[in-house]
Amino acid sequence: MAETEIPFVDLASVVGADLEIARAVLEVVQSGRYVGGAAVEAFEQAWARYCGCGHAIGMGNGLDALTLILRAHDIGAGDEVIVPSWTFIATWLAVTRVGALVVPVEVDPDTGNIDPSLLSEALGPRVRAVICVHLYGQPANVPAIRDAIGARDVVLIEDAAQAHGATLAGARAGSLADAAAFSFYPSKNLGALGDGGAVTCVSSAIAARVRRLGNYGAETKYHHLEVGVNSRLDALQAAALLVRLHRLDAENARRREIASTYTAELVDLPWLALPRVIDGADPVWHLFVVRCAERDQLATQLASAGIETGMHYPVANHRSGAYAGLGLDLPIADTLAQISLSLPIGPHLSDTDVAHVIDAVRSFR
Ligand SMILES: Cc1ncc(COP(=O)(O)O)c(C=O)c1O
Repeated sequence: MAETEIPFVDLASVVGADLEIARAVLEVVQSGRYVGGAAVEAFEQAWARYCGCGHAIGMGNGLDALTLILRAHDIGAGDEVIVPSWTFIATWLAVTRVGALVVPVEVDPDTGNIDPSLLSEALGPRVRAVICVHLYGQPANVPAIRDAIGARDVVLIEDAAQAHGATLAGARAGSLADAAAFSFYPSKNLGALGDGGAVTCVSSAIAARVRRLGNYGAETKYHHLEVGVNSRLDALQAAALLVRLHRLDAENARRREIASTYTAELVDLPWLALPRVIDGADPVWHLFVVRCAERDQLATQLASAGIETGMHYPVANHRSGAYAGLGLDLPIADTLAQISLSLPIGPHLSDTDVAHVIDAVRSFR
């Protein structure tokens, strides 16, 4: 096998080489204020503004962001929450963590996002929320999901962990529903130097509740109004994120450029299915996931050409040890776990790298 020439992700060359990030981190180190403070406030304000949403609250990670949105709406034991059958497991774990039941709804295999036409059947009387995931960086069909929810008292939550800067009809992820959860895991489009996350939301009451839940249930030190957790964005991470936020649009533009080159150059291959973009959506291509019946052989061939690929995801959530006990039957998710392959995409790739990936895929058959 050739040595990897084209890595799937290369944070050292993008983030590690950015001296402005290093300087911002050093400033926090020298300030002596490591939890909360000016860096966190500045990032929260900038992130709310960027998303076009009233409130942003820094969190320890994306899973906590989802979990605390559910808790802030008093969703728990006895409640049901609709989730896509196909997503990173954290979407489901948040529901399980609050004691509610996951109600998975199958996705449209061409987009990877929840299929709104299947929602009305799943929207039973115990459903308190729908979590739509903007998987791989493409917004879910939020207007169709809202139509399906209709006048029911059901909260619509975005899992925007993969969709920093994505838009639908011109509005950014994070402002499309009642509340949204972001992850700043390092390899995300907007990534920190470790774990981090945020909630964005419309309601100031929900924003205040999320903040309090993430701060041991306290609004004032040592006055704990409820059972909270410790989940806050570190000042060091906030400082790094603020610098990286200034690069986000340019990096997303590069991802879009690579995605359109892949699409133009691979669209004629009858054995390869490319992602479909819905009307009005402008995805940010956190991942570029193709589908191929001989996925494993294709991955092996690309590896021997020095190209690292990913699988998002090799195991469907309902087949994982965490959820196999529920005995769920989700054939679309099962198929996607067999055929999905993620090609490298991101600001670390040169035009030559992209051309090499295209040549290697085209020579598979
Ligand atoms: C769709 C989705 N939801 C939730 C998460 C959880 O985020 P975190 O890893 O920050 O907990 C992630 C990323 O890891 C994700 O991809």
